[in-house]
Amino acid sequence: MDASTKFKSGRIVFLLLTGSFFALIFAEVHISVKNRLGSGKNMTLHCQSKDDDLGERTVADGDEFGWDFNANVWGTTLYYCDMGWENLQDYHFDAYSHARDWARCETQCLWLVSEEGMYGLNGQTGFWSTFTSGQVDKI
Ligand SMILES: *[C@@H]1O[C@H](CO)[C@@H](O)[C@H](O)[C@H]1NC(C)=O
Repeated sequence: MDASTKFKSGRIVFLLLTGSFFALIFAEVHISVKNRLGSGKNMTLHCQSKDDDLGERTVADGDEFGWDFNANVWGTTLYYCDMGWENLQDYHFDAYSHARDWARCETQCLWLVSEEGMYGLNGQTGFWSTFTSGQVDKI
């Protein structure tokens, strides 16, 4: 084997290794936002990322809206939503921010919306946490 062949096969092994490394770290994530407002209240939900607009939806009481995505390898994936019902309109929140959620939402990022506030599921602990001021509180 001459030096250049050795170099090429070394590079292929490197690519294969990094490829499976990223596939493990950036597995598919499922996000869902569930309406738990009660009293038959609809909410509107409009979620999007820089290059994926999921459109404005009406989510009925008890229903949820969800989607799947693969986090990008740069670690910058961000899905943000505007939500509203009755007097509360255009409430903005990040449904998935890689920097904040990569560990908490390794495979799923579940949200519950109620009159008392929003709750996010911590996939590592299995506990629901309150969501205030853009942060998922640790409990
Ligand atoms: C909720 O939305 C559905 C479908 O858009 C509509 O038929 C229904 O009247 C709405 N309910 C309320 C309470 O506004």
